[in-house]
This record gives sequence, C-alpha cells and structure tokens, in this order.
Amino acid sequence: DKGPYQHFMAKEIHEQPDSLRRALLGLVDHHSCKLKPFLEEIDFAGVDRVLLVACGTAHYACHIAKYWLEDFAGLPVEVEIASEFRYRNVALSGREIAIFVSQSGETADTLAALNHLRNRVAHRVAVVNVPTSSIAREAEHIVEIQAGPEIGVASTKAFTGQLICLAALAVKAGLQRGTVSQADEQNLLSNLTMLPRQITEILALDGAIQAVAKDLVDAGDVLFLGRGVMYPLALEAALKLKEISYIHAEGYAAGELKHGPIALIDQSVPVVVFAPSDEHFEKLVSNGKEVAARGGRLIWVTDPKGASKLKDVEGSVLKVPEAWDAWAPIAHAVVAQLIAYHVAVLKGTDVDQPRNLAKSVTVE
Ligand code: M6R
Repeated sequence: DKGPYQHFMAKEIHEQPDSLRRALLGLVDHHSCKLKPFLEEIDFAGVDRVLLVACGTAHYACHIAKYWLEDFAGLPVEVEIASEFRYRNVALSGREIAIFVSQSGETADTLAALNHLRNRVAHRVAVVNVPTSSIAREAEHIVEIQAGPEIGVASTKAFTGQLICLAALAVKAGLQRGTVSQADEQNLLSNLTMLPRQITEILALDGAIQAVAKDLVDAGDVLFLGRGVMYPLALEAALKLKEISYIHAEGYAAGELKHGPIALIDQSVPVVVFAPSDEHFEKLVSNGKEVAARGGRLIWVTDPKGASKLKDVEGSVLKVPEAWDAWAPIAHAVVAQLIAYHVAVLKGTDVDQPRNLAKSVTVE
C-alpha cells in the first residue's frame, strides 16, 4: 500500500524519520545517550582490522562507515565490493571482524563473500533488513536495520538504516578500544538521535528540491561532489540518479576533479556539491570555484552556516538543517534521494521498477 504517495520510493523516503527512530530505539538509550547492549560477544579491542563487504548502495554505506571506524576507533578498515572480494586472495590474520551489509540479505555475491570467510576471521557480522534471510542465517552475529519492507528497487530507508547501525557499531568500537570516552559517546549519540527530526525538516523542503530536479532533468551528465565522509555520499547520489532517471551521473571526491573529470565541465553539466559546514568546507568552495570558472552550473547543498559563506560564490544553494559533522551524510542522503526521485518523476520513468534492475540480485 503506497498510502497517499504516487510511488513506493516516495513513501519509503518519507518513512525515514520513523524507520530511523526505530533503529535508534534498538541501539541507543535515549535517557542516558549511551549505547544499549548489542553484539555483546564482540570485542573490538581484540581485532586488528575491519572488513566491510557489500554491493551497490549497501557498499556505499560501508564506505561511509570506514571514515567513522577510522576516526572513532583508529581501526584499519577495508571496504570491499562483494563480487570482487570473493575472488581475491585477501591476506587474513584471523583477527579480523568482517561485516556484511545487505538490505535483502539475499544478494548472491555478498552471501558468497560471507561463506568465503567462514572460519577464516574472528567474527562475521550481518547488518541486514530481513532477519530471516540467507545472509542473516549464515552469519554468527546480526544487527537488524529495522527499516520495514522496502519495495522500491532504489534503496532509500534501508541505506539510512544501515548507516545508523554502522554508526552505533563505530561508537561501540571506539568505546572498547578506549578512543571514545563516555562523554564522547553521549555527544555522538545525542547528535545521532537528532537525525529523525532533522530529516523531517529536510522532507519539508520538497518544493525546493523539486526546483533542483527541474535543473537536472535535461542534463546528459550530472556530477556529484563531496569531500571526507561526504565523498561516498556523492557516489550514492550518483547511483540513485542513474538507476531511476537513466541520466549518466558520477560521484567524485572534489579534490580529484582536477585530475581528469574537470575536462567534462561546461554549461551543460550540473554539479551538485554536498557541502556541510565541516572541516572540508573551504577546500570544497575552492573546488566549486574551479567548476564555476569553466562554466559549470553549481548546486550547493549546505547548512545555514555554509550558506552564509557562499554569498559571493556562484551557483544555487539548497539550505538544509545542520547535522553533526560525522552524521551529515545521513541527513544529506535524503536530499540525494529526493533529487533522484523528482528527476525520475519529471522524466516519467518507472520509479519503483527501473528498467533492467531487480530488487534483490540473487545471481552472481
Ligand atoms: O539487498 P542488498 O542491500 O544486498 O542489495 C545491494 C544492491 O543490489 C542494492 O543496494 C542496489 O544497489 C540498489 N538498487 C541501490 O538503490
């Protein structure tokens, strides 16, 4: 049942304040702003590396989590595409924790990668939305995304749910390794619990996001840029646009632009920049100016602080509520989803069942 929505994707995008509240309730004690017990058998102080393995959007969630785990827990992290990982001779010490992320829990390559590591690493953890799935059954430990059924082929609420689980996991890793203090824990988690409200505010910006979509609908190519933890979000935004609107899109680390992709820039290429006012902001503005100097059309996604610094910079500005720096990709993900959704609706493509795609990819 789509309720008042035209598509399941729209319904699922709008469900995110609730689905994330649900995920948070399972992981965080809202009174103390401390983690509830989960994955109790795992001690991150006893592992020497984390492997994050997944496909598609779930792989980008892993890529974001790499920044968190490095930052909070000082752990070496490798992010792996499941279809590549299973065929590589990865050097293992046996002291790794391997985390497999999947909405459906049925993705053949992710399942094969999980099987491939049986008895070869210290722990195999599944972060899944379907607790009865093959991946959930095969793994020794499970964290449930709690997003509820996701029908649209384009993953939305499962992605942000995966991020909440991985965020909690990174905080837990930091606590166990002594790199996150109890005060840090409270700070990180109280900011994490603000996301449902911030996302409700972003959903109310639908009209402004539709205006951005109008700007993109006739483009042949779109670039998404970010730095730091917003870089993988740029990759996810490009995937979302590609899969439902069939517009060619690329995500790039903004600093990488001048190493090649800037050659693509002219007036016909819109460039969407995910630019929360974090430590990368000034550098990102310089990268944006390089784009503007070549006639590129800039669309900045930023918070009020960032917007005030963009007054003299070219391009249009979409202002979203300020989220805690590390958690900004979770809030901005909703912007990326709504942009892709509205472009697809304007183009009249099949939003929920895009051509050539299946909801879960059970072939290798
Ligand atoms: O069910 P999974 O999370 O394992 O699926 C992985 C990918 O197939 C999936 O995220 C795909 O990339 C989505 N269509 C993206 O929106």
